[in-house]
Amino acid sequence: MTRHVAVLEGDGIGPEVARAAVQVMQAAVGDPAALEVGWHPFGWSAYEAGGEAFPDATRAACLAADAVFFGAVGAPGTLPPEVPRPERALLELRASLGTWANLRPVRPHPALLDASPLRRERVLGTDILFVRELTGGLYFGPKESHPDRASDTAEYSVGEIERVIRQAADLARGRSGRLTSVDKANVLATSRLWRQTTDRVIAEDYPDITLEHVLVDAMAMHLIARPATFDVVVTSNLFGDILTDEAAMLTGSLGMLPSASVGDGERGLYEPVHGTAPDIAGRGIANPYGAMRSMVWMLRLSLGLSEAADRLDQALDDAVAAGSHTPDLGGRATTADVVRDVLARLDER
Ligand SMILES: NC(=O)c1ccc[n+]([C@@H]2O[C@H](COP(=O)([O-])OP(=O)(O)OC[C@H]3O[C@@H](n4cnc5c(N)ncnc54)[C@H](O)[C@@H]3O)[C@@H](O)[C@H]2O)c1
Repeated sequence: MTRHVAVLEGDGIGPEVARAAVQVMQAAVGDPAALEVGWHPFGWSAYEAGGEAFPDATRAACLAADAVFFGAVGAPGTLPPEVPRPERALLELRASLGTWANLRPVRPHPALLDASPLRRERVLGTDILFVRELTGGLYFGPKESHPDRASDTAEYSVGEIERVIRQAADLARGRSGRLTSVDKANVLATSRLWRQTTDRVIAEDYPDITLEHVLVDAMAMHLIARPATFDVVVTSNLFGDILTDEAAMLTGSLGMLPSASVGDGERGLYEPVHGTAPDIAGRGIANPYGAMRSMVWMLRLSLGLSEAADRLDQALDDAVAAGSHTPDLGGRATTADVVRDVLARLDER
């Protein structure tokens, strides 16, 4: 059976890391007949070419695919008010695919403990799986923009909270059984509903899970002070966005972090956590590991190719261990060097 993957490279370093990731993913699968990869316009580049950041044909291709891989999206500089921000297309993409939970694993590689700005003994033993709610909250609520004021509205329903809490609790069951829920229940009504719903779901259906609630401001501090004490962390869209960028630095670079967005079916959306990195775009030095590791999750969760996923996962670990490090990690490897090193590790297996 041929599986279909829709690739949206996007902007900035998006195409650089997407091409690198597709190349190693195809090598890990081996059989060219097993996969069909289609490339589709998306983001600022699509807007410039055809006036739409998320063209209908791209949307249709994503909905018809078994999995979607996305690079990064962003416009260069500030835009006139009448031009829509292309980042909006990413929110539309996530909503169209119904991918309401975003999984972001933070597991520093032993060879990169000194690449983190934190001391190695702080980072040692860190293995966090963030579960970020992805299609609700402040990013999706009603917005108003006037010359003299603007507003964004955060909304959550019980159903939206419940499904992401269940997802996180199921994942915690497969790990240490500890779940940390992050909110701002001392100030926000949506957070109070979040906490109440979490308590009920865990008490009713997950008595084996140890649940703790942490306020988001305290969590920002704990992530730096004692990252190794957390296992599965579940939180809202806004808080998850911010906390995972902070947590990325435990791995040495934002470029290391992969993500998998899942919903009700098997189709998922896979993307590195970073943006378009305009400061290094076009120089061939983007760190492709986050994009490549997102492919591991794609192979495993959406394509049912777990052997290829394991092969690629191991090859990525081996390449990092062997010192294949881009400049953001303190090394001198180019994106192409990393691709070559990972392909060589795959060959060895
Ligand atoms: N998912 C997305 O597509 C996404 C996410 C965040 C930001 N953005 C967009 O990207 C643009 C730039 O945003 P930003 O600068 O705040 O965030 P960014 O993630 O693009 O970059 C932040 C810093 O991290 C570095 N970096 C990021 N990814 C890297 C990689 N793979 N290899 C090496 N270094 C890497 C960059 O060079 C930069 O110094 C904006 O338009 C923003 O809206 C898009």
